[in-house]
Amino acid sequence: MSETISVLISKEDIEKRTAELAKKINEDYQGRQIHIVCVLKGGVFFAVNLAQHLTVPVTIDFMSVSSYGDDTKSSGIVKIVKDLDQPLAGKDVLVVEDIMDSGRTLSYLLNLLRDRKPASLRLCTLLDKPSRRVIDVSCDYTGFEIEDKFVVGCGMDYQQRYRNLPYIGVVELGE
Ligand code: IMP
Ligand code: MG
Repeated sequence: MSETISVLISKEDIEKRTAELAKKINEDYQGRQIHIVCVLKGGVFFAVNLAQHLTVPVTIDFMSVSSYGDDTKSSGIVKIVKDLDQPLAGKDVLVVEDIMDSGRTLSYLLNLLRDRKPASLRLCTLLDKPSRRVIDVSCDYTGFEIEDKFVVGCGMDYQQRYRNLPYIGVVELGE
């Protein structure tokens, strides 16, 4: 079966929007230090791009979670594959993720991180598919809201491929 990728959001639009989000974050965190919690693997590309635009002091840590479920649907039962290296207590934590879909993964993750008593906990996602939401999770910074389409690029994968695409694309399966 062949796969073609059609561009949904261009590299230029992603860069422009990322810079806008960073500007807002810089204003909101004036005089504080941000501790980014990047969710592997999908969040890495966006987290790096965002962090490069931040002018307030930044530290970064990584967490890898796997959500039980099939390729395109998460179950909400999340297993920590790699935990953070550093404690969160007293820190201004900004969770950076690629996409919020049903909200199950992030709802679970945010509750888990909240239990570690950060001074503040906010969420920044590059994409949001609000029509797919099953659990209500409020997102503080959202790049783009998109329709219910399976997308790849900027960290997001289809069977572990396409994470490296600098744009957001929709996978179309052919003969
Ligand atoms: P949720 O728990 O349903 O919100 O799923 C969130 C996770 O599912 C994301 O962190 C992605 O890893 C994955 N995911 C959801 N939608 C897409 C998509 O359109 N493309 C690639 N991965 C997706
Ligand atoms: Mg993810």
